[in-house]
Amino acid sequence: MSLVTKLKRRFFRAIIKLDRRSAFYAMRSVYMDGMVRRLNDSSQFHWDQFKIEKTPKKFEDLAGLFFCSPLSRGILRQDIDEAALLFKQISKMDAPRGVEIGRFYGGSTVLLCTAIGERGKLLSIDIAPKHQDAELKEVLERLQLTSRVELMIADANKVEMNDSLDFAFIDGDHSYEGARLDHNKWGAKLKVGGLLIHHDMGHSRKHSVQWNELFLLYQNILQIQQPCLEVLAEAGSMVVFRKTNVNWINLPPNNSRGLNTEGKQTKSNSYLNKEQ
Ligand SMILES: C[S@@+](CC[C@H](N)C(=O)[O-])C[C@H]1O[C@@H](n2cnc3c(N)ncnc32)[C@H](O)[C@@H]1O
Repeated sequence: MSLVTKLKRRFFRAIIKLDRRSAFYAMRSVYMDGMVRRLNDSSQFHWDQFKIEKTPKKFEDLAGLFFCSPLSRGILRQDIDEAALLFKQISKMDAPRGVEIGRFYGGSTVLLCTAIGERGKLLSIDIAPKHQDAELKEVLERLQLTSRVELMIADANKVEMNDSLDFAFIDGDHSYEGARLDHNKWGAKLKVGGLLIHHDMGHSRKHSVQWNELFLLYQNILQIQQPCLEVLAEAGSMVVFRKTNVNWINLPPNNSRGLNTEGKQTKSNSYLNKEQ
């Protein structure tokens, strides 16, 4: 690298550090395609970064071949390997009954409705879905998925349900206390062998999102719930637990952290948000 290039880089780095947010939006308005292409330069990828299944059989086993980051998110707010893992685990089940907590635009609802198959049933709960589901309802109708799902607008913690479940996908309130309440409530309703899947909970990686409160919850699950839950698989921040015992152990509140106990949303403390 020439001296001039080095000096230029140092200069722009100093300017960007002054106000990262404004620098980002300015760059995005003039150089979005270039930013994505350069960030995704093939020379930075190596085979040892990819977690490919021993004997891949289906397309979703190969998701690790992609650049898995929030850049691959669209209307579905998951990295491609996270979505692939979710699809793989749910589509293995025969006519499952499950819940989804948090659908937002409904990308994950469409994914789950597809994965459960014609005889599966999904209850999707969101306290404030995007545009009150107006577009999602049209999409589900067009895709002939409407009969597989009930769209409910409610606080997941106030919903009563007696049925036992094959799976619960939790991607709603991302505060420690909110996610703990969801975890206990829906985990207790699972059949033995059923899956409890949390998004934004596991280890983060470069260019991805880390919700630190959910990661703390993850550590407590591993410590306290060993007798009734095991980790089946992980991709990005998606963690798939399997219920192993009918006797469910409730996770206690983490009072020392002074977190809200009403299931209100908190902001992500991802390093992506530590711009200021
Ligand atoms: C991260 S988004 C879900 C993204 C979606 N699962 C996807 O993969 O595209 C979180 C959603 O959870 C919902 N939510 C937050 N707290 C909730 C609660 N207590 N009960 C139900 N939904 C909640 C929010 O309204 C928001 O739409």
